[in-house]
Amino acid sequence: MKIKFYSILITSIVILVAALSATFYRTSDSPRTTELFTNSWLFNLGDFQDGQNPSLDDSHWRQVNLPHDWSIEGHFKSETNKEDVPEFHIVKGEWKFNKGDNMLWKDPDIDEGSWQIVKLPSTWEKHSNYTPDNVYGWYRRELTIPAELKGKDIFINLGKIDDADETYFNGVKVGGMGSFPPNYTTAWDILRYYKVPHEIIRYGVKNSIAVRVFDGIMGGGIYNEGEKIIEGPFESTCPGGSGAGYINAGTGWYRKEFKLPEDIQDKRVFIEFDGVYMNSDVWINGVHLGNRPYGYSSFQYELTKHLKFGDEKNVLAVRVDVQQPCSRWYSGAGIYRNVRLTVTDPVHIAHWGTYVTTPDVSESEATVRVETKILNQSTSARKVTLETVVVDESGHESASSSSLQEVKAGSINIFEQFIKIPKPKLWSPEKPNLYRIKSKVYVNGSIADAGETTFGIRTFEFTVDKGFFLNGKHIDIKGVCLHHDLGCLGAAVNKRAIERQLEIMKSMGCNAVRTSHNPPAPELLDLCDRMGFLVMDEAFDEWKLSKTMFGYGRFFDEWSERDLKDMIRRDRNHPSIILWSIGNEIPEQGNANAYEMSKRLVDICHTEDPTRPVTSGCNSPEAAVKSGFSKPLDVFSINYSMPFYQTLKGKTKLVASETASAVSTRGEYNLVQDGDTLKIEKELNNQCASYDKAAPSWGNTAESTLKTIKNAPWVAGQFVWTGFDYIGEPTPFSWPSVSSYFGIVDLCGFPKDRYYLYQSQWTDKPMIHILPHWNWQDFEGQEIPVWCYSNCESVELFLNGKSLGEKKFCDTEDLHLLWKVPYSAGTLKAVAKNNGKTVCTDEVQTAGAPFKIMLTPDRTEISADGEDLSYVKVEIVDQEGRVCPNADNLVKFKIKGEGIIAGVDNGNPISHEYFKAGERKAFHGLCLVVIQSKREQGAIRLSAESEGLQTADLLFRVK
Ligand code: GAL
Repeated sequence: MKIKFYSILITSIVILVAALSATFYRTSDSPRTTELFTNSWLFNLGDFQDGQNPSLDDSHWRQVNLPHDWSIEGHFKSETNKEDVPEFHIVKGEWKFNKGDNMLWKDPDIDEGSWQIVKLPSTWEKHSNYTPDNVYGWYRRELTIPAELKGKDIFINLGKIDDADETYFNGVKVGGMGSFPPNYTTAWDILRYYKVPHEIIRYGVKNSIAVRVFDGIMGGGIYNEGEKIIEGPFESTCPGGSGAGYINAGTGWYRKEFKLPEDIQDKRVFIEFDGVYMNSDVWINGVHLGNRPYGYSSFQYELTKHLKFGDEKNVLAVRVDVQQPCSRWYSGAGIYRNVRLTVTDPVHIAHWGTYVTTPDVSESEATVRVETKILNQSTSARKVTLETVVVDESGHESASSSSLQEVKAGSINIFEQFIKIPKPKLWSPEKPNLYRIKSKVYVNGSIADAGETTFGIRTFEFTVDKGFFLNGKHIDIKGVCLHHDLGCLGAAVNKRAIERQLEIMKSMGCNAVRTSHNPPAPELLDLCDRMGFLVMDEAFDEWKLSKTMFGYGRFFDEWSERDLKDMIRRDRNHPSIILWSIGNEIPEQGNANAYEMSKRLVDICHTEDPTRPVTSGCNSPEAAVKSGFSKPLDVFSINYSMPFYQTLKGKTKLVASETASAVSTRGEYNLVQDGDTLKIEKELNNQCASYDKAAPSWGNTAESTLKTIKNAPWVAGQFVWTGFDYIGEPTPFSWPSVSSYFGIVDLCGFPKDRYYLYQSQWTDKPMIHILPHWNWQDFEGQEIPVWCYSNCESVELFLNGKSLGEKKFCDTEDLHLLWKVPYSAGTLKAVAKNNGKTVCTDEVQTAGAPFKIMLTPDRTEISADGEDLSYVKVEIVDQEGRVCPNADNLVKFKIKGEGIIAGVDNGNPISHEYFKAGERKAFHGLCLVVIQSKREQGAIRLSAESEGLQTADLLFRVK
């Protein structure tokens, strides 16, 4: 049975692309259509000789929707999740084997009397003394599929086969890899993982499986049971090592079939990828369109001349090749960002062809300069009118301009327009006011193209002596570095997941993001514009000298100019961006040619966008100055190396592009007996204490960094390493640790105690936070270090109603207040005061035994767009509803209705549980389940159960 999915493009339909994620969408009267091209792709893990071939039989490939990160998937093992497809590992055990080749042997009911019984996995040289090269052999076995699976598709896992195979289920071909003579190619190292559609399965009785194998030279047959590959994401021997979080990648193929209506034959058709990690090759109908090594670059190909229309189908094929180790952090693997198909008239606005700047800004008026590139792909010159209208957020027209030019056939003309906006509403983190440019292109009076571009009006300046100014007002950059993974969702882009990350950061007082260390997903920048974050947009983590064996270095010479230009052209309209970064801790910083290398890249930035300063994160500031590396930079970015704030004071504009790298685990306090007292062990059992005590040799605690920055007002501010924990780089440990300890919040987004330290320094709304928890039954009577973070003047502490004294921040250099409190169970309460008056309180209470589950969703209503999410906090609480800080109960989820479980997590850096599962152990009393909508409106019911605990459930609306 062959299941195919066609996407039909209907020009008359207005296709809405989420306003946030695309610059263009179709305006009602424009011929341009832009369609998210993300549904119903087919995916296969492993390489093929011929994956681009339009007639390749891909019927056994797995259907996926993009954005997709195959690395994170592991094996979706939960029986409670409806998306789960049962799989059968069928290699191990007894098979029948016959030498030679006869196509009748595929049939279910043949006489196997003369066949040999063999034990697999093994090669046929071994089990049958079958040693010649270039020979065929057949394997057969039976498989009973339980009756209760009736109606379900299954997967069969056939391990690895040397060299090529064709596999039949009840006589029907369900898969095959490599190819047989005369065009023989091997697929000896690829996992055979074939889907069997329910239509050909006989449930409750025996089914026949027949595998036809051809061997070229050496080692024929089904030689490997292949279990490793589907065991789950983490593997200690993964070539990506700790950087990748021990998660494998490899090579994968995607294919998508689609049809196009005949009436668009005279249009131009483009496919746009926001990012494919990595080293992608794209084909349309077997024609190679291009290769793009850098996994973070966005790119577009024109499909037009290779397309078929009407009833004929088109096949888009993408090969993705991730050779590990290639990254110092978890990269993900696959088409992990959005893809769009755009259809335009031959005369249209070029890709990234609108560039908006605001050369003059005052309170009374702003001048907006709009540069628009119009491309004429028709066969004759055209008189083109460009109408540009500026509208404010409520859609009111602020001003407009119209210009006419003749554009020759095959040429691009640049239209330059200046538009004055009276009384502009300026963009800032507090008030992220935005405007839109609406562009309309007319040829001979008829509309040929239209597009929209979001921009903002603001001025900014880095100064040598006073830091950073936005719209003339001093602002401290209170920033965080973020990698791109989204915890249990992996690297697959999800707008709501990014938005939630930013909401959590904003609630801490953060106002800036560094896209460490690569161009981000466009969704992140759209959200930063809208939510009010300043952005350092970073291009590279390395230049020619690679930091990992298969890193970007091998592509740098050929691609760096293109990658950098493309990043700037894509991103330069975002008002949030205040810095281009050409690199992070570039190994060439101190080299003899450092000046030339950095000058070349800085010049590219200046040419592409003269309005923004350029920087690079330097971890060896002294070497960077000496070598000349830093000379072309407009702003000097210092990673760690805090004494250099002083050394470089007054000499250059400075920002602390990377700070702290403090390490901690949410909920771990590592209190251990040390003689008569308790001491805080910074690192214990692969966990780091949450008392802001630990950082690697190059880093500092969060508190000491905050103090140093506060005393260096000439530094524009800092970007903390990191806002969120991320997968990979589990410094200071390695296996079994798999994710980072650097985050201010854990991988789930649950705050660690450090979150409240930053909140106390970065926000004004009165807050108080007390740590640790209050379940220290083993330490009865012993002094527990109790810390409080607050932005109030003083804090009074009470144990079971008895005051333990008041302490004031003005009496200490520290950014926390400390008590040593002899432990006795009960309630420890912190009362924060200003001018002697109580303004806020926080308390920890001794919890009893785990009793029930509590579910707290961040949203109970989500959109029926197949992408929207609700993050559900799962707490293990005692009978009174107090969180049990040591609880690690396994929670099993069931979901019904119009949603699926997109992922689960608990923030424990040493957990090897699946992210894509329907169950999770609590870690320090908490875990997380992420619910994702399907495409139907309705309801979702989520229930959570755990042995011995009261269950909980939740209802969501999907609309
Ligand atoms: C920095 C580097 C980051 C991260 C961090 C960990 O030197 O730029 O990418 O590795 O160290 O402390």
